[in-house]
Amino acid sequence: MSLCVVLKDILEAYFLEICMTTQVINRSPLPPSPPTRGFLGHYRQITNDPLRFFSESVKSYGDLVYLRVGKINIYLINDPEDIERMLVTENRNFLKPKLLHLAEETLGNGLLTSEGKFWLRQRRLAAPAFHKKRIEEYGRTMVERTEKMLDFWNRTSHIDLHEAMMALTLEIVTATLFGTDIGQEQERKVGHILEVALDRFMDYQSFAYILLDWLPRPKKLRFRKAKRELDEIIFEIIRKRRASGITPEDDPTLLGMYLAARDDDGSGMSDEQLRDEAITIFLAGHETTANLLTFAFYLLYRNQKKRELLEEELDRVLGDRNPTVDDLPNLMYTKQVVKETLRLFPPAWRVGRENIESWRIGGYEIPAEAQIFACQWIVHRDPRWFNEPEDFIPERWTEEFEASLPRYAYFPFGGGPRLCIGYAFAEMEAALVLATIARQVRLEYVGKSEPELYPSITLRPKEGLPAEIQRRG
Ligand code: HEM
Repeated sequence: MSLCVVLKDILEAYFLEICMTTQVINRSPLPPSPPTRGFLGHYRQITNDPLRFFSESVKSYGDLVYLRVGKINIYLINDPEDIERMLVTENRNFLKPKLLHLAEETLGNGLLTSEGKFWLRQRRLAAPAFHKKRIEEYGRTMVERTEKMLDFWNRTSHIDLHEAMMALTLEIVTATLFGTDIGQEQERKVGHILEVALDRFMDYQSFAYILLDWLPRPKKLRFRKAKRELDEIIFEIIRKRRASGITPEDDPTLLGMYLAARDDDGSGMSDEQLRDEAITIFLAGHETTANLLTFAFYLLYRNQKKRELLEEELDRVLGDRNPTVDDLPNLMYTKQVVKETLRLFPPAWRVGRENIESWRIGGYEIPAEAQIFACQWIVHRDPRWFNEPEDFIPERWTEEFEASLPRYAYFPFGGGPRLCIGYAFAEMEAALVLATIARQVRLEYVGKSEPELYPSITLRPKEGLPAEIQRRG
């Protein structure tokens, strides 16, 4: 081992030790754990290739695995019953994990990161905006924006599919959040700012972030500038909307619903809170769905027979028109494709929690303030629940099959009180966008090999996904 590597290890360990001094030292017997040495524990394996490392750990050591990074105790739980206890039945003993709280510099005190009574108030205020009937009104916007993108695809033959889906889902979430108050120029600016914010998210586990973020790093400065610009844009839209006097009944946007929301004591959200919620919706609601759509097209390309089945359904149900929300009950296979993609490539590939009090599980005592993760990536590919778990089989999603699954063997949107508030929005958007595109074009992956995955807060393809567009007859 070179001197440089040793020095780097010592420095990393030193900073991890300082950064995480609040962690309780674990004195209880530990669950099985992959071998490790040194101060850093499993840091390197986790940051190098978390999908492989977590999967292999669970395969070798079972449903409860202990890992350590510096002084941080990490537990992987893999049994659906334990996941249900953490997310649902015993959720009061858990907070969001430390890693997610780093994202507060972007998301502020929005729904994703807030806790306790404050979170509950916000969740109640936001709930009507995500009511099924309400979001169905966004279906038309979703299809119109997709059609606009397809018009552009008429003039080109090659695209980066991930980039295109990111742009499309951003347009959709912007239009549903703000309506027409945001012009094209501002929309482009928001897109760029969100890219900078996502870049920052991906930085959180990096060596440079842990060691050097107290310095004026270009990444950090770029992020701060972008965040200031985004705040200005959002505050301006809120100011205009408040001044416009539009009544909630005439305002079909998510922002309008948020502005109209009132607590029992008659109070609404402050401008700062509205900003935090808007940024949360932007970030939680666009990249996840873009990743889902990107992987869906990739899987359809890899499984031509399944693609033909999808096209057959779209031709039969839609003929030569675009889908509407009313078609969704008849687009069974389309919805199965979405479900199966969420199983194989869950955009939220793990959910994490920190336990407030010690937690007993599988005969072990997990001390308070441990970081506990349940990985959709692993549980969704467990052969105990899914036959041929690595294969793309949309047909498996029958009512009987779903009823036979343990409740938390499949949880792409999490569960319990912190269940994704946008899950119905995302499922509808994915089905409508998929149907609108697949009815008209085929997307052939033209990358050289399997796309490399990039698991950070979300799971996305690392280098995008180059695709050739072929128009269907
Ligand atoms: C395929 C798309 C999506 C996936 C896979 C996904 C996944 C998730 C998951 C797993 C959680 C729970 C995190 C936890 O328990 O720690 C969550 C929370 C959340 N999601 Fe989504 N999401 C998606 C789309 C959306 C959309 C479209 C929106 C909004 C328009 C949205 C807004 C949120 C918000 C605000 C929360 C926090 C809810 C709370 O804690 O009360 N998500 N999402």
